[in-house]
Amino acid sequence: MILFKNVTKTYGEEQSFAIENVNLKIEDGEFVVLVGQSGAGKSTLMKLITGEQKAEKGEVFLGKTRINDLAYRDMPQHRRSLGIIFQDFKLLSQKTAFENIAFAMEILGKDASEIGRKVPRFLNIVGMGAKANKFPSQMSGGERQRIAIARALINEPKVLLADEPTGNLDVFNSWDIVNLLLKINEQLKTTIIFATHNKEVVNSINKRVISLDKGKIIRDSLDGKYII
Ligand SMILES: Nc1ncnc2c1ncn2[C@@H]1O[C@H](COP(=O)(O)OP(=O)(O)OP(=O)(O)O)[C@@H](O)[C@H]1O
Ligand SMILES: [Mg+2]
Repeated sequence: MILFKNVTKTYGEEQSFAIENVNLKIEDGEFVVLVGQSGAGKSTLMKLITGEQKAEKGEVFLGKTRINDLAYRDMPQHRRSLGIIFQDFKLLSQKTAFENIAFAMEILGKDASEIGRKVPRFLNIVGMGAKANKFPSQMSGGERQRIAIARALINEPKVLLADEPTGNLDVFNSWDIVNLLLKINEQLKTTIIFATHNKEVVNSINKRVISLDKGKIIRDSLDGKYII
């Protein structure tokens, strides 16, 4: 479970609110869409979960972990319980699809046999089994995002944070990625928080939608409607 209790976060000297007095509960296995104008606080809300930003007021929990309390040395362990994907895919250009995903296991010290078993399985989950040996430069945007998703999931995080993952993709690839996120949520039971500006997608998938405006939650509804 993810829990925000009266959370406030400001940046810089102007002290304008990026997140203001947010209360929020997301249960394990939920698929939640985060919408709002540019600057509304969507990315900041995610960064408060990753620990990249700290709340000035209030508390943020991931399960039993109170993220406010995490010391710098606790961060790697905390991040391992999260998968994160972005608008730009952040793949390593010198590594193949397989190697990009494998790398996320290598840094945790997983052995070669486990990597050899698991990476092909996740390549298949994201529909990239045939492209294991391609480099990012040889892939389309949609394919790169699929690899980034496989890499984010390979260590089986409970939560996947997807910050505008379709922002650089055309309409067809966007739908592919959204459908993949829905499949992952359903099959792997991963909790997904999906920030997007894509009104058509939001209105079609019929999931819980949280609307942020100037750092405040102005709407939190299961009606699946894109309202900002
Ligand atoms: N590192 C930072 N330093 C200072 N201000 C920041 C920083 N990051 C975000 N902000 C400010 O905090 C507010 C919320 O930004 P945030 O990136 O969370 O919005 P967002 O909803 O993700 O927007 P977008 O849809 O454009 O990605 C904005 O006013 C932004 O300018
Ligand atoms: Mg953002």
